[in-house]
Amino acid sequence: MKKIHVASLSALAAASLLLSGCAPSTTTEETTSAAEETAAPRACVILPDADAGTRWETGDRPALEAGLTAAGFEADIQNALADTAKYATIADAQLAKGCGVMLLVDYQGAGVAVAEKAKAAGVPVIAYDRPIAGADYYVSFDNFTVGALQGQMILDGLAAAGKDPKTASIIYSSGDPADGNAAMFLNGALSVLDAAGAKAAFTMEGTWDGAKAGTLFEQAFTAVGGKVDAVLAPNDNNAASIIAILDKNGLTVPVSGQDASTAGLQNVLLGKQYATVYKPFKVQVEAALKVVNAILTGGTVEANKTLDDGTPYIAVDPIVVTADKVKDVVANGDAKVEDLCTADVADKCAEFGVN
Ligand code: BGC
Repeated sequence: MKKIHVASLSALAAASLLLSGCAPSTTTEETTSAAEETAAPRACVILPDADAGTRWETGDRPALEAGLTAAGFEADIQNALADTAKYATIADAQLAKGCGVMLLVDYQGAGVAVAEKAKAAGVPVIAYDRPIAGADYYVSFDNFTVGALQGQMILDGLAAAGKDPKTASIIYSSGDPADGNAAMFLNGALSVLDAAGAKAAFTMEGTWDGAKAGTLFEQAFTAVGGKVDAVLAPNDNNAASIIAILDKNGLTVPVSGQDASTAGLQNVLLGKQYATVYKPFKVQVEAALKVVNAILTGGTVEANKTLDDGTPYIAVDPIVVTADKVKDVVANGDAKVEDLCTADVADKCAEFGVN
C-alpha cells in the first residue's frame, strides 16, 4: 500500500475546501457568510461517450452525480460523445467556469491535454476508470484482475463443455487500444489463458465499438471456418454483437464480458455468455471521493498500485457474476428485474431467483 500525503493545496482546491464546509474551526464568521453566498465547489467530470449499451450514462453519471452532490459539490458532468474536439471544448468551458477538482474518463487520448491544462490552472486531476498520462491519481478497478477473471470464464466455460483449452478454437478480442485499460484487461486474460496452454485461433483488432466488434467477429468466424469453441470478449457490449453472430450460426459457446450491463446479464441468464465482470459504480465513486477528500483536506491517499508511468493507482475489486449471481446485482440496485426479465429471459429469471 503506497501512501501519498497530499501536502500542498492549490488555490482553487483550498477555496473548495472552505466552500465545502470542511474549513478548519478557525474560520471567521465573515468567511462563513461569504462562503454561504457562494455556490458549492465544482467537481468537473467528462464522460467519453453515450453509445447505447455502455455504462457511462446509465451507470457512472447517476452514481457520480449522487456521490459528488452528497459530498457537497456542484457536479458538472458532461459527455464528449465520442468526439475528441468536443472533449477539449467541454474542458475549456469547465475550467473557465472554475473546477475544484476534475474527474476525467479519457476518450482516445483527449484527456492528456486536458489534464495538463487543469494542472497548469492548479486543478487536481483524477483519471477516472481509464488511465491518463499526467493525472494526479488513477481511480479504477483492478483491471489486470478484470482480465484474469475474463480468461478464467473462458476456461470454466470450456471445462463445463468438456473441451480442452489446449486444443479449443478460441477467438481472442480486446478493447480499443487507445484506452489504456484495454491492454490491462488483455494482459490479465492472457496470464490465465497462456498458463492453461490456450492459444488464439484468431485475434481480432481491438475496439469498443459494438457494431465494429460484430463485423470483426464475422470476419474472424469466416477465417476459422466457423469452428469456434469460445470467444474472449472484453465487455458485454462487444459480447452482445458477437453473440448475435454466433446465434445466427446456431452456436452457443462460452463468451466473456464485463460491466454487468442489462444486455450482458440477460445473455448470462440465457447461457449465451458464460459470466460478466461486475464493477459496482458506487464502489468506484466512493474510491474517487476518498481521493478528492484527501486532496482537498491535505490528507493521505492510499494507493494500492502504481501505473508504469508512476501514477498512483487506486484499484478496487471486481466481482464475477455467473447466472446464479445475477440476483446480487439486482439486490445492489445496479440492475432492474423489469429490464432483465423480459420475453424469453423471464423463465431464466424464475430459474435463477431473479425477482
Ligand atoms: C471500461 C469498461 C467499458 C469500456 C468501454 C473501459 O475503459 O473500463 O467498463 O466497458 O471502457 O466503454
